[in-house]
Amino acid sequence: MKIGLLGFGVVGRGVYDITADMEDIQVAKVVCLEDVQLPDAEVTKDFQSVLKDETIDTVVEAMGGLHPAYEFVRAAIEAGKNIVTSNKALVCSFYDELLPLAMEKGVQFRCTAAVGGGIGWLSELERSRRVQPISRVGGIMNGTCNYILDSMTRLGLGYDEALKQAQALGYAEAKPATDVEGIDTWHKVILSSNIAFGVSLDPATVPVTGISKITADDVAAFTAHGYTCKLISTGKQADGKYSAYVQPTLVGAGQPEAAVPSNFNLITLDGIYSGRMSFFGQGAGRYPTAYNVVQDCKDLLAGKGFYSPYGPKVAAVNDSELSFYVRGASDAWLQERTAEKWGDAVVTKPVPVDQMHAWLRSNEGAFIAAFAESAL
Ligand code: HSE
Repeated sequence: MKIGLLGFGVVGRGVYDITADMEDIQVAKVVCLEDVQLPDAEVTKDFQSVLKDETIDTVVEAMGGLHPAYEFVRAAIEAGKNIVTSNKALVCSFYDELLPLAMEKGVQFRCTAAVGGGIGWLSELERSRRVQPISRVGGIMNGTCNYILDSMTRLGLGYDEALKQAQALGYAEAKPATDVEGIDTWHKVILSSNIAFGVSLDPATVPVTGISKITADDVAAFTAHGYTCKLISTGKQADGKYSAYVQPTLVGAGQPEAAVPSNFNLITLDGIYSGRMSFFGQGAGRYPTAYNVVQDCKDLLAGKGFYSPYGPKVAAVNDSELSFYVRGASDAWLQERTAEKWGDAVVTKPVPVDQMHAWLRSNEGAFIAAFAESAL
């Protein structure tokens, strides 16, 4: 396999290092804007030279961001090259365009590192779904949020201090809002649901809220009541109906998610034969992420292409009812649904998830956290 590697940052450098001594995979060209010297690969700023090079069969996209990653990946597919990418925003945003195009052009498209970094989550999901229907996917998919929430819970740090530490450790995206507002997790659960259920979820129907408004007082209240707050994603299907959402969630001490430390991920599927299976590991970082990019390259060599049948566009309907912790705003709608008070905050009676998120969009100062279902 001869690779044209787009980007030589955290992930790109890792791919180059891991494949350096491999006989069946060679990084032939690296496209990046920095002046780097590499012993075994040509370095260029000109993406067109990758397109024109007929000896390059596979493009590994490790640039991140939507543009020009989208234009480059699309052009590479048009030129008949296989794609491996770790870019969840790209795959999630252009799923309906890039996947059918790759199929039409007869090229392979894999993105295992896009969800769960170094965890073989999407590749195991693919194996699982070929034997059994999957009813649920989700869990802790963002290391930055888990690091912040864990530091606040175990070490008593404030939100700002915990975020600064996550940034200093290199966990957070360039714009931390992508992590802390839940967008990174949102991309990941949509992509996981698409592969698990063989559909294309309409992102506009998947509500998301993150952790940026959580305070030390919220965390103290959760601890006092025996809960740990985690940013949890959910994708479910039952009877031809799909639901998906991302929200801070209060889990009891007996649930595995409560024990996930530092920047780790814990991602779970539920299948009719296997029951619950959870995958724990590093969801970010140079070598964990590059490891799964290289695994995808090995899978391509073994003849494995995209994960699942590409399916029709569907809307998520989130009418299942959960209780919520709500702080920071109040109105008649919320008062009618209040079951108890926790200091300045309230705990609601069970409320449809979509309705709670719709309320939040009109009350942007508020922070909400759902009480977990017994099975997340
Ligand atoms: N910023 C992400 C995280 C990296 O913290 O999990 C991987 O998407």
